[in-house]
Amino acid sequence: MPVSCQQQERQGDTALDINIDLWVWDLDTRQNIDLSVLSKEEQQRAGRFVQPLHQNRYGVGRATLRHILAQYTGSAAADLTFRYGANGKPALAGDVCFNLSHSEQSAALAVTRGCEIGLDLEHYRPVEPDLAERFFSPCERKELAALGPAGFADGFFRCWTRKEAVLKARGEGLSVELNSFDVTLTPDAPPRLLRYAPDPACVDSLTLHHIDFAPELVGAIAAFSHAQPVKLIRR
Ligand SMILES: CC(C)(COP(=O)(O)OP(=O)(O)OC[C@H]1O[C@@H](n2cnc3c(N)ncnc32)[C@H](O)[C@@H]1OP(=O)(O)O)[C@@H](O)C(=O)NCCC(=O)NCCS
Repeated sequence: MPVSCQQQERQGDTALDINIDLWVWDLDTRQNIDLSVLSKEEQQRAGRFVQPLHQNRYGVGRATLRHILAQYTGSAAADLTFRYGANGKPALAGDVCFNLSHSEQSAALAVTRGCEIGLDLEHYRPVEPDLAERFFSPCERKELAALGPAGFADGFFRCWTRKEAVLKARGEGLSVELNSFDVTLTPDAPPRLLRYAPDPACVDSLTLHHIDFAPELVGAIAAFSHAQPVKLIRR
């Protein structure tokens, strides 16, 4: 169960910490989840996936999201109503903020209060170098090239997950040029947003956090923490 604000203070956290709960689950093995909590729209969306595997993953992901968020809001899972930003970012009324990410059979959810967040999760997989040419900024490509072949995969996924987390925290998706901002990607540089041309003030208000979910699963969280300390808590 997530801890309440009062419980956090008792456990020694300061009132200024932003606690972000991290939930991770396997979409293919969570078969006993109650799917009756899905809304009509979610059931319709599940039905639009051609392959049963993807139908099931979407349904399990969304139902698990509802069951977890219900613990934070006190509402029944089926009663949660999502509203959507201009580029499709789901949100709840009230102070509970969350973001979901999935990669193959894995899903992760970050939940906090009063702080807009973005989460990205990726399975390590072979990538062609030209993906970096297409998606990364000139600065990022230079840093990645300097890592050489041995550091390419780690550097690539650090960069990819951080960029995606930034976009997701802002709720922008692909409405923003991917070369209009830079993130760190070398092993020795702390996760950071270095430049964000569409809104330069974002560099000071947003923090980035690296997450090793599992040996094969890497992730990043971006949080509009405005310089408050952020604590990631695995659930
Ligand atoms: C939704 C988006 C932001 C991410 O999609 P994705 O890559 O499939 O990522 P994830 O699995 O991490 O996230 C999907 C979830 O994010 C949430 N989401 C949807 N739109 C969102 C938005 N605009 N902002 C934040 N979160 C969003 C939803 O909960 C969604 O789950 P659902 O598909 O079950 O509804 C996509 O619109 C996008 O623009 N992706 C950019 C892809 C890319 O080229 N990245 C390059 C990085 S270098």
